[in-house]
Amino acid sequence: MFTETHGLKWSIEKDDFLFFKDVLYKKSGIWMKEVKSDLMSSRLRKRAVQLGMRSLHEYRQLLETEADDSMEWQVFINLLTTNKTDFFREPDHYDYLIHQFIPEWLKLGKTHLNVWSCASSTGEEPYTLAMVFEKHLPSEITYSILATDIDTEVLARARNGVYSKNRLWEIPAEYSSLLAMGTGEVSEWFTVKRKLRDRIRFVQHNLFSEELPPFHNEEKFDLALCRNVLIYFDSEGIEKTAKKIFQSTTENGVLLIGHSESLQGKKGLWKTKKPSYYFKT
Ligand SMILES: C[S@@+](CC[C@H](N)C(=O)[O-])C[C@H]1O[C@@H](n2cnc3c(N)ncnc32)[C@H](O)[C@@H]1O
Repeated sequence: MFTETHGLKWSIEKDDFLFFKDVLYKKSGIWMKEVKSDLMSSRLRKRAVQLGMRSLHEYRQLLETEADDSMEWQVFINLLTTNKTDFFREPDHYDYLIHQFIPEWLKLGKTHLNVWSCASSTGEEPYTLAMVFEKHLPSEITYSILATDIDTEVLARARNGVYSKNRLWEIPAEYSSLLAMGTGEVSEWFTVKRKLRDRIRFVQHNLFSEELPPFHNEEKFDLALCRNVLIYFDSEGIEKTAKKIFQSTTENGVLLIGHSESLQGKKGLWKTKKPSYYFKT
């Protein structure tokens, strides 16, 4: 809605919406439709109020004076990302990793599995991957997980890696020995054990940028999970991302995307036999 209410301009003017929408797209690839203007307005309002402003137009004026790499632009992006995630989300991907991916990958004779979680949000996805690899890889095989996101706020929470015990139901009982339960003052909380946490590197990376992800020792990834982020991109963003992951993976690389997503005819050289599973060979 683009109207004024209560004397304060907390509803968003169309011209301001278009400004925010365009810069968000340029900086992140996130494509916000006009029907989302109320959502945008309510998220940006919080920040404007914090800054003592009386309208979103004032917030726009502030952003217009900020350098491209300023903290305020990062705050703006953090406010407009959607970070919903769960442990063991879309469980058939993890069944596939256990029953097909790992046995096939072991046949390659490698000793280190290198994985990229491309939009890792608050960390549930990379911690789930660590639990699965810890339990299902032979003990002589090592693994590492690069977990990236554009949002610095969720990355900080993911690095901290402390979750409410109300979330324990998301984690199958067979993995409970890999968790550390809080006691005393932190008895409501749990974390994933240190040896798993040490396998994960959390780093900021923008999928919509031209840069490749920060490789460790220039090693490409055997597996990439890019789940539930492509739904926010247009076809240019999807194409860029599919290409970037293709360049960043080994010759036998595998890409998993979310079940409600598709590469929309932008899969390039990726091969696929069923939705959400993509292979290089
Ligand atoms: C809905 S969460 C998905 C989390 C997890 N992959 C899952 O499937 O549960 C989407 C994440 O994508 C991130 N994101 C959005 N645009 C991005 C971009 N251009 N580069 C990297 N991450 C991005 C958001 O910050 C958010 O944390």
